[in-house]
Amino acid sequence: MRIAMIGGGYVGLVSGACFAEFGSEVTVVETDRAKLDALRQGHIPIYEPGLDRLVADNTAAGRLRFDDDLAAALDGVDAVFIAVGTPTRRGDGHADLSYVYAAAEQVARALSGYAVVVTKSTVPVGTGRRIVEIMRHARPDLAFDVASNPEFLREGSAIEDFMRPDRVVIGAESERAREVLRRIYRPLYLIEAPIVFTGIETAELAKYASNAFLAMKVTFINEMADLCEKVGGDVHDVARSIGLDGRIGRKFLHPGPGFGGSCFPKDTLALVRIAQDAGAPTRLVESVVAVNDARKATMAMRVIAACGGSVRNKVIGVLGLTFKPETDDMREAPALPIVARLVEDGAQVQAFDPQGMEQARALLPPSVTYCRDAMEAVAGADALVLLTEWNEFRALAPARLAAAMRGRVLVDLRNVYDPTAMREAGLTYHGIGRPHS
Ligand SMILES: NC(=O)c1ccc[n+]([C@@H]2O[C@H](COP(=O)([O-])OP(=O)(O)OC[C@H]3O[C@@H](n4cnc5c(N)ncnc54)[C@H](O)[C@@H]3O)[C@@H](O)[C@H]2O)c1
Repeated sequence: MRIAMIGGGYVGLVSGACFAEFGSEVTVVETDRAKLDALRQGHIPIYEPGLDRLVADNTAAGRLRFDDDLAAALDGVDAVFIAVGTPTRRGDGHADLSYVYAAAEQVARALSGYAVVVTKSTVPVGTGRRIVEIMRHARPDLAFDVASNPEFLREGSAIEDFMRPDRVVIGAESERAREVLRRIYRPLYLIEAPIVFTGIETAELAKYASNAFLAMKVTFINEMADLCEKVGGDVHDVARSIGLDGRIGRKFLHPGPGFGGSCFPKDTLALVRIAQDAGAPTRLVESVVAVNDARKATMAMRVIAACGGSVRNKVIGVLGLTFKPETDDMREAPALPIVARLVEDGAQVQAFDPQGMEQARALLPPSVTYCRDAMEAVAGADALVLLTEWNEFRALAPARLAAAMRGRVLVDLRNVYDPTAMREAGLTYHGIGRPHS
């Protein structure tokens, strides 16, 4: 099969490389010149484990290439996937669909024959229909189908998620479109991954519903953590006790500083707006958005309280900046409001993140010092704050931390450390929803 992937970001690049690995001939179309040049030279602009190898192998095999010439990329394609960004629109929380609509129009003008135009971007209900209108208006003569194939991959395990998905959702209305997508995804039939065929609106909504549900689970356990702190419970035992119930499940029950990233914050907000516009408000999701925003904003106060009420002129070591481990993505990371507030209150922040520091530099206050490794961020700190649970931070021995620090305060916003071991090493441990020092 021949495929064009519009957009070479996280989703476009991973999906494009994986489709090539499945055996299709894929051209990834990217308009950002710097990104395109990097990709053509074999440099992967994002950090995603295994992606550099997958791209290199498939490029060498002649199945994957990168271009900014849309007409050349669309020549003879069976399907065009739109994987451009759908960020939150300024001011109203709706998804900004300008990149999607622009791509749809460009594709319509450049296609020379029938193809299925598939949205992989996360888009509100109704976008597929609008794409049909835009394409028809641009090219009344063109035969095409529009389909929705939302992407559920997770940054950090994107390739595995794509190659062995829990399910693939395909919203399509013609048998011809379904057949093209069936053939593209054939390798997944062989491993018996469930493929759910739906209408276009259902597929569009399924993606938002999935992310909103997961965000709700995270927010629920965060609230249970706060309650544990008040009543003397341990949130890990609560999470385990409820998670072992098969109806609930154990995943996404880890308390933390609030969810961030490129998807949950914007998708929950967009779902709230979609539902309000449709006259069926999702009160639960509205609460999730509000509770999570408030949580991220108040996390710095925990650090300040742990430091005795003030961080002025204190050295705060920060371990981890990205919204989760195994990515360099800083979008909506809890680190952003937390570090900004600490700096505003007069702290001297020295931070280390294995992959996210380049992106962080552009987003955090200029006074933040970026360290070469974790121990440099720990050295001389009055307080240490763990913000992202990278594996290498888990391995830091309590005695080593205590010896390198100037002060005694450890704020563990991901609950990765053993409170007893930290206490025995002489540190004052502050976790989330578990008994303190
Ligand atoms: N990042 C994730 O983990 C994830 C997971 C599932 C779904 N999604 C969804 O997938 C979509 C893409 O997300 P992303 O994180 O890959 O975004 P991204 O911002 O990393 O990448 C989008 C890319 O598209 C390019 N682009 C924009 N318009 C273009 C055009 N007309 N032609 C060619 N290239 C164009 C941009 O230059 C950019 O490189 C979003 O809707 C997102 O919600 C993301």
